[in-house]
Amino acid sequence: MTKHSSSPSGNRAVFSTRFAAVATTVGSAVGLGNIWRFPYEAGVHGGGAFLICYLAFVMLIGVPVLCAEFCMGRATRSNIVGAYSRLKAGKPGLFAGLLGVVSSLLILSFYSVVAGWTVEYSLASLTGALDFSAADPMGHDRFAVLTGGWRSTLWTLLFLGCNFAIMLGGVTKGIERMSNVLMPVLFLLLILFCVNSFTLSGWRQGVAFIFSPDFSKVNPSMLLGAMGQAFFSLSLGLGGMMTYASYFSKTTRLARTAVTTAVLDSAVAILAGVIIFPAVFTFNLSPEAGPTLVFEVLPYVFSQLPAGRMWATLFFILLFLASLTSTVSMSEIAIAYFSEERRMSRRKATLTCALIAGAGALLCALSFGPAAGFKVCGMTMFNLFDYVASNISLPLGGFICSVFVGWKLRSPFLNRYLQPVTPLTRAYTGYLGFCMRWVCPTAIFLIFLNSIGIL
Ligand code: TRP
Repeated sequence: MTKHSSSPSGNRAVFSTRFAAVATTVGSAVGLGNIWRFPYEAGVHGGGAFLICYLAFVMLIGVPVLCAEFCMGRATRSNIVGAYSRLKAGKPGLFAGLLGVVSSLLILSFYSVVAGWTVEYSLASLTGALDFSAADPMGHDRFAVLTGGWRSTLWTLLFLGCNFAIMLGGVTKGIERMSNVLMPVLFLLLILFCVNSFTLSGWRQGVAFIFSPDFSKVNPSMLLGAMGQAFFSLSLGLGGMMTYASYFSKTTRLARTAVTTAVLDSAVAILAGVIIFPAVFTFNLSPEAGPTLVFEVLPYVFSQLPAGRMWATLFFILLFLASLTSTVSMSEIAIAYFSEERRMSRRKATLTCALIAGAGALLCALSFGPAAGFKVCGMTMFNLFDYVASNISLPLGGFICSVFVGWKLRSPFLNRYLQPVTPLTRAYTGYLGFCMRWVCPTAIFLIFLNSIGIL
């Protein structure tokens, strides 16, 4: 965002090139959600069937809601609360806006803990403290040894510190440059590790686990999980993409950017699955390990690569940076709100968010240490934040957004901002409108009812 343009909301930054707009949007979408969260959710929910449901949700709900957010962002050039209020969405809009602001801080809290693990792992790989031999005496306990205690809390806070330092600097030039380079490199590295997976003895089982669906595994909690994952991975439901679209220049094509983002984002998730599951089966680990899965499995993956330590260091540093390009978009939701609606200076808004997220992150980090026994509804603070934000707030925010754009603003709004010109793009805009009006609300509603046991 190097240029400034005057707009109804004053001087707002604009991404400098079309490529930068796409790279930054993909940078927001691709992060721990793909590489850490997708494999563990897929592992818990049975693999192939989860993948199919997740991809279906990306197409039927993800892309339409992404376009709805993009259009609202372009139309209003404003933060989420401001966007709903300018479009006269009334109380539901205010609710969706505030839900977005609060939930983005919740997500930031637990996300930073995982990002903190990437710091620990980068350092441990670099110094050799992380032993990659399969016969490592730390064995399955590597994760606990590395992340237990106060050190990982420190890394969590350090990560948040980096994040808010970038935000204080006005973001965006740095993020834009970082995304331009980082996303392609990360992609190449993942492809390399993926090829390596096929040399492992358990590759058949791993690939079968993630690609051959067992539909007896489809149940309400799996559907809710797959839907939550689709929202989480595409940074949807809380106005993150809305806020980013408010920084797009007029030449950025919204409908196309939405598809590019969804395709690349899903590709990264699938690559992560192909990297993780063959190793899980080769080394007799459990696919159902939950949030720690990827961090337990990856050292085994690197143990099979020549110069594993170097690859590991590179990978964890990249993952750290990919997390930053995502948390920046999360933080921007709340910071844009505080600075534009509450009239705080950008600096004060940033510090306020840093304090709130810092407190939340402490709670989440301690879930893996001294506060592991403190549970609400059977979940540690870390799991609770993740569950509530990903499976409830995001779909609820997406529901309100798609109903509002689909039913209140309707086709003229979509046509104006998606600008269909050919018969094909007109059909595509029609498909998006149909999904916003019918498919998204119905699917989200049914899955909610289903998962609280009413249906
Ligand atoms: N999509 C990111 C990931 O997969 C996470 C993320 C960034 C996000 N911004 C968001 C999730 C806004 C929800 C809302 O890692």
